[in-house]
Amino acid sequence: MPTRSTVILGTGSYAPERVLSNDEISQTLDTSDDWIRTRSGIRERRIAAPNEATSDMAAKAAQRALDDAGLKATEIDLLVVATMTPDLPMPAAACIIQRKLGLPSTAACFDLNAACTGFVYALDTACAMLSSGRYQKALVIGAEKLSTIVDWQDRTTCVLFGDGAGAVVVGVSPEPDRGLLGTRLGAFGDSVELLYISHGGSSSPSTPESIARREHCMRMKGKEVFKLAVRVMDEAARDILEQHHLHADQISLVIPHQANLRIIEAISEYLEIPMERFFVNVDRYGNTSAASIPLALDEARRSGRIKTGDITLLVAFGAGLTYGSALIRW
Ligand code: COA
Repeated sequence: MPTRSTVILGTGSYAPERVLSNDEISQTLDTSDDWIRTRSGIRERRIAAPNEATSDMAAKAAQRALDDAGLKATEIDLLVVATMTPDLPMPAAACIIQRKLGLPSTAACFDLNAACTGFVYALDTACAMLSSGRYQKALVIGAEKLSTIVDWQDRTTCVLFGDGAGAVVVGVSPEPDRGLLGTRLGAFGDSVELLYISHGGSSSPSTPESIARREHCMRMKGKEVFKLAVRVMDEAARDILEQHHLHADQISLVIPHQANLRIIEAISEYLEIPMERFFVNVDRYGNTSAASIPLALDEARRSGRIKTGDITLLVAFGAGLTYGSALIRW
């Protein structure tokens, strides 16, 4: 049990202007709108401009979350950014975002990489730090420019991903049983090679040859990831409901990681929660990794799908393979 309740005070999101449709991709790649839509539910995705970095998208989403919360950047003392596509290998994107937003130099700022589960990990981390009493107001951001790490010649991956950002402002509340009720995080390190980038890190720095083979881009064993994703998201959701003595009927809205409509439909069936109580926007954005849940959360709130007293379930999986679930009472 947290010592202080941690509550979401505001949400914000940002998606780049450029819309890339399935039809447009199929002009340069052997694929089709029909294949992409039936296998993944994706119709289109957003692509950041060449001069638009992860930190630019993140700062825009964060400013909207601050405005929603009625807070100024100077009131934030903790910034946690979930991303696997930071602007630079160093320093952290969080420090660049700090500068763009004008956060005080007394704010702790760092990045966290748990791939597509990143936002759930970041939310848990920030809430634990707030619960400690050492921090008062946190910004938690999920932001990705995946268009820079996908292989645009690999039809089995590039059609699935997009760019974007989402953010929440988190504060503390004296009211018990509100806000983040709990999380269930984990990882299967044995499955690293199912979804990874083999070159460009300390074990295998990029060489002209590895770049020519496009080994600095994402590789994925789609079928295996699909099966594991369904299993771990189902288990992570069940575990957290059980831990909190909640029944699926008590969940007003599930916000799953938006990777594939078929994965979301399978989870809906396993959990026996109808699709009407799942928030879905994968059709418009594709998989935006760490940005996917906060982007969906912001759209769900702004479209009136979350009301005071509701319990929302977040559930995600990603490279690692990481997984995580979270329960929030509004
Ligand atoms: N367009 C047309 N054909 C394509 C294609 C594309 N974009 N991508 C793959 N294919 C082809 C394959 O080459 C294969 O052809 P073959 O039978 O001649 O070899 C055929 O379609 C079937 O491929 P397969 O991989 O069996 O399809 P699938 O039904 O498993 O769907 C995914 C592929 C990637 C959509 C699916 O496996 C998936 O969504 N996996 C999870 C991915 C994910 O969520 N990753 C993110 C994790 S955070």
